[in-house]
Amino acid sequence: MREVKIGLCGLGTVGSGVFNVMSRNLAAINARSNCQISIAQVGCRRDNVACDLSKANITRDIFEVAQNPDIDIVVELIGGTTVAYELVMLALENGKHVVTANKALIAEHGMTIFAQAEARGLMVCYEAAVAGGIPIIKALREGLSANRINWLAGIINGTTNFILSEMDTKGREFADVLSEAQAKGYAEADPTFDVEGIDASHKLAILASIAFAMPLSLEGLFTDGITQLEPQDVAYARELGYVIKHLGIARQTDAGVELRVHPTLVPERSLIAGVNDVANAIMVNADAVGTTLFSGPGAGAEPTASSVIADIVDVARAMDSYPDSWVPALGYSSSVIEPRTLMNIEDVETGFYIRFSALDKPGVLSDVTKIMGDAGISIEAIIQREQPAGERYVNVIILTNVTKEKCLNEAVTHIEHLETVRGEVSFIRVEYLDQV
Ligand code: HSE
Repeated sequence: MREVKIGLCGLGTVGSGVFNVMSRNLAAINARSNCQISIAQVGCRRDNVACDLSKANITRDIFEVAQNPDIDIVVELIGGTTVAYELVMLALENGKHVVTANKALIAEHGMTIFAQAEARGLMVCYEAAVAGGIPIIKALREGLSANRINWLAGIINGTTNFILSEMDTKGREFADVLSEAQAKGYAEADPTFDVEGIDASHKLAILASIAFAMPLSLEGLFTDGITQLEPQDVAYARELGYVIKHLGIARQTDAGVELRVHPTLVPERSLIAGVNDVANAIMVNADAVGTTLFSGPGAGAEPTASSVIADIVDVARAMDSYPDSWVPALGYSSSVIEPRTLMNIEDVETGFYIRFSALDKPGVLSDVTKIMGDAGISIEAIIQREQPAGERYVNVIILTNVTKEKCLNEAVTHIEHLETVRGEVSFIRVEYLDQV
């Protein structure tokens, strides 16, 4: 069997997972790849690692790994976009194929990295960059290659899904759940990347590029996190028959491509509503196949290692064949990848959940419904909460039909100016994810 030598850079949560799964399942991995794969060198600066390095060839200099003439594939698991970028480019300059789990690196520098790899006849694989253990990159690039993709909507950050699930089912506090996600190794080094939606935006940019043959870019991608969500919204959504999920949505419309990450009400009956804890799920709607759902663990050591090793197997199998037979980095020949017009969030059409505090007196709701009617917004449901004794204000919750965000913003401004309304009107977008 052909020998294939790996240089593993980074032994954090994912790196240790790769080391352990490779050691445990090596016979099957070799049989599947028809190669004899070994970890020839490990580049790592940390001393406390969750794997047995007693037989490993270790260096503290990751750049040594990228230049080691024995190594065929450099596996970049150090994270970040500065040193990781230098490492990947150096590995390519030195004729190494690259496997990475680094979504920020691919979303921000993917086009440069792929161009360099293509010019040098090398592969760069990144299955683990999106949705941890779910083979969604392979599904989009290969399994769905017959289709025109209409839209995809995904829970693509395990940490936020874990937090929302715990808030929903156990009424736990946000900060307390976040600490648990960090302890379990789900969260990013800087957890604001998770809760502000940045991690999900990196992943959505990657999915959209593959789905719609457009260059990787974060420009124009609307991003909102879950830090402003209140437990009462999670509870009101349930009362209305919805669940709040943090979704990344990409859709092709006649007016352009929508790319957005934000908390979203989805109907309890939708496939994605029941995907809880650290699980991720991506719904893909395409013209030939219809709607599919890919779900599984979206973070954690071994689920992510599963995807990294699948890439290693793919590279090991293909590296001695002609580059023309390889699956292109974004699933399409680079010559057809073209920028697309992105839609401004104000022009996107969704349903809306609205909450505000209003004086409990006759005529208030009719003022609000008139404003909504004047803005062309149709109301689907209204809840008014009974106030505690002595409280003059009540919470009003409105669910609208699908409307342009521009119209909703106009209505919100008018409602906030009503003398009977106190404070700001908050809103959350609603998606029906019709499974047609
Ligand atoms: N922090 C990420 C998440 C890890 O929570 O999904 C996997 O990309």
